[in-house]
Amino acid sequence: MRDPKIRQIIQNVRAAYAPTPAYKKLEEHFQSLLEQRRADMADGVRSNVRGIVLVGQSGSGKTTAIRELVRQNAHLLATDADKEHCEFISLQVPSPATMKFVGSATLRALGYPLSGDKQGSVIWDQVKVQLKLRRTLFLHLDEAQDLARYQTDKERQSVVNTLKSLMENSHWPTGVILTGMPDLKRIVNQDPQLARRLFPVEIDRLHAVKHVAPVLDLIKNYARRGQIKVSDGLLTEQFAQRLMHAADYEFGLMVEIAVQAVAKALLQGGVGATLAHRCFADVYHDRSAAVDALNPFLAADFVRINPRSIFDRRYDDDEDPQ
Ligand SMILES: Nc1ncnc2c1ncn2[C@@H]1O[C@H](COP(=O)(O)OP(=O)(O)OP(=O)(O)O)[C@@H](O)[C@H]1O
Ligand SMILES: [Mg+2]
Repeated sequence: MRDPKIRQIIQNVRAAYAPTPAYKKLEEHFQSLLEQRRADMADGVRSNVRGIVLVGQSGSGKTTAIRELVRQNAHLLATDADKEHCEFISLQVPSPATMKFVGSATLRALGYPLSGDKQGSVIWDQVKVQLKLRRTLFLHLDEAQDLARYQTDKERQSVVNTLKSLMENSHWPTGVILTGMPDLKRIVNQDPQLARRLFPVEIDRLHAVKHVAPVLDLIKNYARRGQIKVSDGLLTEQFAQRLMHAADYEFGLMVEIAVQAVAKALLQGGVGATLAHRCFADVYHDRSAAVDALNPFLAADFVRINPRSIFDRRYDDDEDPQ
């Protein structure tokens, strides 16, 4: 059985959200949309609303950013999905993203399971009724790049049109928040009317030179939160670059590895442990099962390693062994 105090410290480290420029922008847009909507409601005005599109690669931190947004703004809007009024509803785009599937998934997220086999348009009429009944101001669709997968152009356009119509609904407009991989940009740009209604936010990839200092600061902060020391000489420019490479230059993955390294140090060394280079190398091995020569924390020529592949035993650009 693990020391409950250590468990508690690890939980505390895991729960820490590191604010980023993209998160700040997301929150600013969100709060201005919310303020505008509250003012319109107070004046009894039914205007068209706008939404937000947040894009980033896998592991950049999109889903986590929205979760943090809801948590940070829980005092400004009703977010409890179990209550009658829920002003923020979140769901994942189902596959294939047809009118019918997306509509049913939205209805389910609204706590109104569908009975019988109904047409897409009928389902969406029910969605609109439920959005109004539950006073939903924002509808968040995660994995929204899947709106374009496994379906025809016509079907995708119908879904896009329906999402636009939610924001223009004269009875109860609902702002749409789309989050997804960079392919989502193309979907949004294919429809200028949709693009015009969404504030764009992008989670940029890390830069091997520009982000050295912020990455090292972040490690210090997480170690402090974990109440552990940082080993002398760990926080070098090259270490930051190894970490960024191991995370494929994605902010979320970088934090995830750092958090796991702090947890490993705590589990191995207890309170007052030291965060060492070895903790990071071990975490990378746990995540990828890669041999040392393909571990970005250990290999000399780490930039050649493909950090996304697991079970790797060879360099990305090597010939396939026959
Ligand atoms: N700002 C942050 N502070 C702390 N941890 C973060 C932050 N952003 C992301 N993370 C962590 O990074 C990991 C990946 O984040 P997340 O799942 O949100 O990525 P994503 O962009 O939604 O990826 P995918 O497209 O694969 O769904 C998670 O473990 C999350 O806890
Ligand atoms: Mg996600």
